[in-house]
Amino acid sequence: MSAIKILVIPGSLRTGSHNVRLAAAAVDELARADVDVTRLSLGDYPLPIYDGDLEDKSGVPLHAINLKRMIGAHDGVLLVTPEYNSSLPALVKNAIDWVTRVADSGETPGEVLRGRPFAIASASEGRLGGSRCLAALRLILSGCRATVIPNQMALSFAHEAYDDRDRLKLPADKTALWDMVRQLIDVAQRMK
Ligand SMILES: Cc1cc2nc3c(=O)[nH]c(=O)nc-3n(C[C@H](O)[C@H](O)[C@H](O)COP(=O)(O)O)c2cc1C
Repeated sequence: MSAIKILVIPGSLRTGSHNVRLAAAAVDELARADVDVTRLSLGDYPLPIYDGDLEDKSGVPLHAINLKRMIGAHDGVLLVTPEYNSSLPALVKNAIDWVTRVADSGETPGEVLRGRPFAIASASEGRLGGSRCLAALRLILSGCRATVIPNQMALSFAHEAYDDRDRLKLPADKTALWDMVRQLIDVAQRMK
């Protein structure tokens, strides 16, 4: 069987982002597990704020179509996003909104998410590690009928979490990352 393909999407564009750093650590774990892993930046898929009039006038933007096709080309997706005001950033929600408007030939809008395995993670300097954002994101993706795996990762005190070689320091954090990655691979393998 061909290697499982996993797409990793950080939900921050910020230089020095804790979530980009956590996404990079997840990419390392996935690569160690012999997964074919791709990390993208939402900065390469700039999108206007969703507006139905704009969609009626100009159609779904090409970046949304390309992002949807990237998701569709992978067996599973890991979203690693900051928490903003107890929920997810507009960048992430807007990308999901546009992706659910894409229907390639023979598809219905949003079909790309249905049944597709997703893992979700968040990193924050706070004690809760973005866990409220994960609750919101799980609800949204489940509403899109994605298969959101039970294991997730909320990395607390993210500014202190790494050693000088960018590896997670705490055994509990390493275990949480590995358990999430392993479960995503297992579910993606089963649903392939
Ligand atoms: C508008 C805004 C709202 C935020 N709200 C929260 C929050 O509710 N919970 C939290 O833990 N951190 C919150 N933060 C802090 C972010 O977790 C912090 O900026 C984090 O570093 C952003 O992720 P990044 O490093 O990947 O860019 C907020 C930051 C911003 C800019």
